[in-house]
Amino acid sequence: MGTSRHDIRLGYLGFEVRDVEAWATFAVDVLGLAIGSRGNDGCFSLRCDDWAQRFAVSSGPADDIAFFGWEVDDAGALEAAAARLRSAGVDAAEGTDAETRVRRVTRLLKLRDPAGHPCEIFFGAERADSPFRSRHVVSSFVTGAQGLGHAVLSAPAPERSLAFYRDVLGFRLSDRIVCEVHGHPVDIVFMHGGARHHSVAIGGPQRKRVHHFMLEVASMDDVGLAFDRALRGGVRITQTLGRHPNDRMFSFYAKTPSGFQFEFGWGGRQVDDATWQTTTYDRVSEWGHHPPEMLAPKPREGASR
Ligand code: FE2
Repeated sequence: MGTSRHDIRLGYLGFEVRDVEAWATFAVDVLGLAIGSRGNDGCFSLRCDDWAQRFAVSSGPADDIAFFGWEVDDAGALEAAAARLRSAGVDAAEGTDAETRVRRVTRLLKLRDPAGHPCEIFFGAERADSPFRSRHVVSSFVTGAQGLGHAVLSAPAPERSLAFYRDVLGFRLSDRIVCEVHGHPVDIVFMHGGARHHSVAIGGPQRKRVHHFMLEVASMDDVGLAFDRALRGGVRITQTLGRHPNDRMFSFYAKTPSGFQFEFGWGGRQVDDATWQTTTYDRVSEWGHHPPEMLAPKPREGASR
């Protein structure tokens, strides 16, 4: 593709949730995000940096991701994406003025990926008129050119999803992890569209639209502090602190109030397309990322219960 290559990164996420108030508390007091604005129907937006909104939370029965926003740099990149979608036979509708106003972006295209996930490709996110302040995060969220973070998508037909994100949306292969975890086969493909090691990863089918989404902070202490807040807030930890071999992220995993997971990390590696070599790893974690049940002491042999 050479000169026609454009960057693409995770820009925003929409959540449709059953318990809006639980989400507001969780987002502010566990994740350390800040409420941007509140609608009269209970919906609200969240910030994590200088953008006016990075998350849109609405009330509904799905308890799932409602849409993924993929950010490109400018109108030229949006047009290039539209052309690739057309030649791949993917229906993409230009967002209306009302829709771009709600998302607070200049332009957007609406489409569905091969798994049926609603996706929006956009550029020109509105900046907030006040600085972002977290009640809890001491450093900052790592965003900017690296985007909001990453999402590991549910993909009932992984090959089709992989081809779509790579050949149509323009993500590049970072690496792959093929192994077994607790007796379950794992095969995940990681892709980047800029410096962040991966903005999107494709595993197998999940119950919700994502296995997890990831937010990165600029200090290791902020991961530990978030872990403490999750414990204190009664959030269900799913994987203890650990480090991934491919993106080198130091992180933990826990459940959102909607049941899908989030990863909260620090220290993610960046890729340089000029020198990057793809690799296949044989483990998901260098160390850690254990189910918390492993922390329970085993009963002594011969002891009754
Ligand atoms: Fe992750």
